[in-house]
Amino acid sequence: MRRIAITNQKGGVAKTTTTVNLGACLAERGKKVLLIDLDPQANLTSWLGFGAASEGKSVYDVFVGDTRLDEVLKDSKTHKLWVAPSVVELAGAERLLLTETGRDTVLKKKLAEMKEEFDYVFFDCPPSLGIITINALTAAREVFIPVETKILALNGLVTLTHTIQRVKERINPSLEITGIIACMYDGRTNLSREVLEKLRAHFGDRVFKTAIRENVRLAECPISELPIHLYAPGSPGAKDYENLADEVIESEKTHGNARKR
Ligand SMILES: Nc1ncnc2c1ncn2[C@@H]1O[C@H](COP(=O)(O)OP(=O)(O)OP(=O)(O)O)[C@@H](O)[C@H]1O
Ligand SMILES: [Mg+2]
Repeated sequence: MRRIAITNQKGGVAKTTTTVNLGACLAERGKKVLLIDLDPQANLTSWLGFGAASEGKSVYDVFVGDTRLDEVLKDSKTHKLWVAPSVVELAGAERLLLTETGRDTVLKKKLAEMKEEFDYVFFDCPPSLGIITINALTAAREVFIPVETKILALNGLVTLTHTIQRVKERINPSLEITGIIACMYDGRTNLSREVLEKLRAHFGDRVFKTAIRENVRLAECPISELPIHLYAPGSPGAKDYENLADEVIESEKTHGNARKR
């Protein structure tokens, strides 16, 4: 089971877009995929049609109660794609966890107890480096960082990589940044090309070859409650996320761990 945190404390860089569409493209390729929504905005949850997650238990109950992850899993309309939904109340969980000992390892423990088996588990992180994100970095083995290539704002990446390094040293020695994803790429602009070059200079081959192009279909997609390859098959957005999924499957050989926990 590959456990991958999709994180960047900067807002609106395509974390959720990437989690949903990459996850769905992996599911299309026969992988069993779980997407855990860790954002109180619950964008991923409503995208996959579970907007009224209040009907059942959510990730909030997993964090602050005895609820097991198995109890909150929902089978989405996309074959082999499962969701652990979020709710707005998750915003309050950070405060409740603050005084708990072992507050950083809640998710890791719940994941270890989960009976249902998956090939891939993705954590869609909120745009912050709070306790919930630290939980994701503690429960994950890999980190994928989506980076918006429309603007030159790579400073935040320094803070992020330091945080990841700290978590690695303190609690999760096996944590690695295994993928940088260039998002909202517009190859016609010098800026996008420059950002991509800088990423490649800094992160080398950890930057995926596939850049996700800016594509209006991707922006429209959430209201359809479908992932891009079903909403707009053949669109640039669908092709890019399909190519990215192929690269991720290819990297199983190096970052494998597909069966191990
Ligand atoms: N390649 C793309 N082309 C066009 N629009 C995109 C693309 N990727 C993402 N978007 C749009 O950009 C906005 C931000 O994307 P998204 O919600 O995935 O970011 P996020 O990092 O999850 O945001 P937050 O930090 O709020 O959780 C959304 O409106 C989304 O539809
Ligand atoms: Mg998001």
